[in-house]
Amino acid sequence: MVDPVSASGEEELEEVGLRPRSLSEFVGQADLVEHLGIVLQAARQRRQPVDHILFAGPPGLGKTSLAGIVAAEMGTGLRITAGPVLTRAGDLAALLTDLQEGDVLFIDEIHRLHRSVEEMLYSAMEDGRLDILIGKGPTARSIRLELPAFTLVGATTRTGLVSGPLRDRFGFVGRLDLYDPADLRSIVERSARILKVQIDREGAVRISERSRGTPRVANRLLRRVRDFAEVRGSGFIDGTTAREGLELFGVDGLGLDKVDRAILTTLCGRFGGQPVGLTTLAQCVGEEPDTIEDAYEPYLLQSGLIQRTARGRVATARAWTHLGYDGPPGAPDATNSPALF
Ligand SMILES: Nc1ncnc2c1ncn2[C@@H]1O[C@H](COP(=O)(O)OP(=O)(O)OP(=O)(O)O)[C@@H](O)[C@H]1O
Ligand SMILES: [Mg+2]
Repeated sequence: MVDPVSASGEEELEEVGLRPRSLSEFVGQADLVEHLGIVLQAARQRRQPVDHILFAGPPGLGKTSLAGIVAAEMGTGLRITAGPVLTRAGDLAALLTDLQEGDVLFIDEIHRLHRSVEEMLYSAMEDGRLDILIGKGPTARSIRLELPAFTLVGATTRTGLVSGPLRDRFGFVGRLDLYDPADLRSIVERSARILKVQIDREGAVRISERSRGTPRVANRLLRRVRDFAEVRGSGFIDGTTAREGLELFGVDGLGLDKVDRAILTTLCGRFGGQPVGLTTLAQCVGEEPDTIEDAYEPYLLQSGLIQRTARGRVATARAWTHLGYDGPPGAPDATNSPALF
């Protein structure tokens, strides 16, 4: 079945147009933006490339956008690649030797770098050079290449998966958190202006409430509601239009998607409120444990629907109510969260 709220190819292009291009256009993440602003300005004043930067956080929160912003604010070129794409050390060598002085090299999903590629990156990041081994066996020799000064920007959905030696070579680590509803509302209003969609405050609030704390989701829901408003109404999005449109496309009151709901029904229905380990939970909903941890749990935890306990994940009373069940008397209260382990 086609998921009505997932993006088509054309929409991905449209999404590129919605990317903030400068730090001042970037909504929310106030601490990160302030710190990054200082790091960038200091490097500009010294006329040096900025130190290597790692952005970490759940999908769709703005890591790729920030990589573009770093290059734009520094007035340098941007080269984009991704961990899994660089299969051999030679792939990385080719990219690095082709950089211009000061360029930003963005490596998305940097935790998925091949081991040999990652090791080559160490000396490139630290000493600005590459040692390349040519040939094999006793006749092998190593040549050293000096690289232009560059800035590596890495992105990962989880810093825990980036190896220690790699993480230590970044001068600045920026962590992105889920956005609060007020910031998401500003993002919806900004995107609406760019897409020339008319929306009132109430309409933007309705969409932001159901966006799972994630700008990419907010933009997608805005496009679905725009479709609905154009076909069923005058094109103008007010609170009622937004609510009806979101309901039509099956977006629930908290913005939970199919996998979120599968997680909750597994915890409440299948396991009847008992704690469930991550691997078991992942198997039950047909996702990888990493995906559950990176992409789904942050929002479910933040919205007080699940808790992580030493014995596994448990649904809170709020989750039972949301699914329309009477929870067991012992279900934990969302507001009364125990310390995470
Ligand atoms: N702070 C923000 N202000 C305005 N729009 C934003 C912001 N952050 C993200 N967006 C919007 O959300 C979309 C997704 O952002 P982006 O692609 O940068 O996320 P990401 O963290 O790289 O995601 P992934 O982990 O899936 O690669 C962008 O197209 C942009 O329109
Ligand atoms: Mg990205």
